[in-house]
Amino acid sequence: MRLIINNTYQEISVWAANYVAYRIKNFRPSAQKPFVLGLCTGSTPLGMYAELIKIYKAGKISFENVVTFNMDEYLGLGPNDEQSYHYFMHENFFRHVNIPQANIHLLNGLTKDYTKECQHYEDLIKSYGTIHLFVGGVGSDGHIAFNEPGSSLTSRTRVKTLTAETIAANSRFFGGNKSKVPNSVLTVGIGTIMDAEEVMLLVSGDKKARALHHAVEGSINHMWPVSILQMHPHGIIVCDEPATNELKADTVRYFKEIEQQRMPKIK
Ligand code: GLP
Repeated sequence: MRLIINNTYQEISVWAANYVAYRIKNFRPSAQKPFVLGLCTGSTPLGMYAELIKIYKAGKISFENVVTFNMDEYLGLGPNDEQSYHYFMHENFFRHVNIPQANIHLLNGLTKDYTKECQHYEDLIKSYGTIHLFVGGVGSDGHIAFNEPGSSLTSRTRVKTLTAETIAANSRFFGGNKSKVPNSVLTVGIGTIMDAEEVMLLVSGDKKARALHHAVEGSINHMWPVSILQMHPHGIIVCDEPATNELKADTVRYFKEIEQQRMPKIK
């Protein structure tokens, strides 16, 4: 696992956007061989999306041959609902870049047949071979996508019930009203994320410090789903200083030292 420690949230955003752009460019995607990118929502990736839009507008990258799969969606919210992840992605990223509509995939929160929708999503991912890079965040309770503590570490795309902690955390997007947050969601599984060629998680702020400690220094445990990243051959965590508050000083120094010379740059 790589742990990239930046000073600030802005630096995380720039680092992550540069990395995504670098991976896409290096892949040289074409219509026959698209780059398959897994994406996430939440406050944390907002800065990365803004930076990616800047890189696109500067003419340094094209999303024409990029195919995306989002991690999750609330059940019961349609694409026009401002709190849906469809809406979030469209507003904060897709409408600003040249990605073809047909290349965008999100789980359908209005489905009545969860099993069919989830199997269809898994099949769709498989039809592209693999996800080349899955970008995610982490909940303060260590969830990835909507795989809450206690989730099977080999799970596939399915319906899940949110914990009280996640409902409280996400209520800020629903005017602070917890009763408005859907308690059921569709989410890719931990196994689905782990099948990606590379997984990059963005972690910002001291609210995430406990989760980061479990991810990096803890043992692999279903009560801290993020800890599964230790099993991934190409796992990257990009974090800021406040998120490292619960890491040992030695751990921080170790990862800083080995990352010193590795900042990616796009031409
Ligand atoms: C939600 C999303 C996750 C995200 C998490 C953290 O629960 N389903 O994918 O990682 O929130 O969000 P934030 O970045 O806002 O802290």
